[in-house]
Amino acid sequence: MNHPADNHRNSAGLIIAITILFSIGYAIVRYHVVGPAPWNDFPFFILNKGISLAAFILLTCNFGLGPLRNLGVNVPAGWLNARKALGMTGFLLVLVHVLMSFLLFSPAVYAKFFETDGTLTLMAGLSMLGGVLAFVVLWAYNLSFQTHLREDKSYIRFITSRTFLLWAMLLGASHLLFMGYSDWINPSSWHGGIPPVSLVAITFFVTGYVFNLLGRK
Ligand code: HEM
Repeated sequence: MNHPADNHRNSAGLIIAITILFSIGYAIVRYHVVGPAPWNDFPFFILNKGISLAAFILLTCNFGLGPLRNLGVNVPAGWLNARKALGMTGFLLVLVHVLMSFLLFSPAVYAKFFETDGTLTLMAGLSMLGGVLAFVVLWAYNLSFQTHLREDKSYIRFITSRTFLLWAMLLGASHLLFMGYSDWINPSSWHGGIPPVSLVAITFFVTGYVFNLLGRK
């Protein structure tokens, strides 16, 4: 039964703090501690990886907790009440990730995304297309609730529908898949045997996607 105090519980701060600490900590351990990245890469290149992972995990929570409850799992009220803040924070962290990635995007930083003549590889092109579209869809989703669009019932019905969300989530997954799958299937290339950030992110994605497939109404 729903207890009245449940309405006031909100674990957003705790979830966001743990997610950011875990994600940045993971990137530090994988790339600096067991990997070869020099520390001068930390404030931008490596931090960008940690921030993008935190964004992905928070967005997975935002979209996955409701369907998980629908599946009969006893999700704490503080977690359910946190969803809005998790979604907004995830979106803002994606925005930070996008701005940082734009500044970094060059063959000197991301050799694997570029051909020798300086053009994008097919896989990098597909990955970035997925990223850009996922970002725009997330933006549209956010705007829906913050502007007069929320009064447009058929628009809200469409953008919150099961079909739209299940397809839209695949854009984020394609960003990771095209960028990372060649590393995922090659564990001998992992620094210290630790999986790449993109593989950790896709693991969260697949778990959240299954909750949505089975539990979203
Ligand atoms: C304009 C849109 C986007 C651009 C230009 C972009 C760019 C990039 C780039 C260049 C990388 C490689 C980072 C690296 O390996 O250091 C990357 C990785 C990543 N991106 Fe994005 N991204 C965009 C949107 C998104 C969105 C919407 C999400 C989340 C929903 C996201 C999540 C991630 C994650 C989790 C990684 C993996 C980091 C890693 O393995 O190093 N990105 N993105």
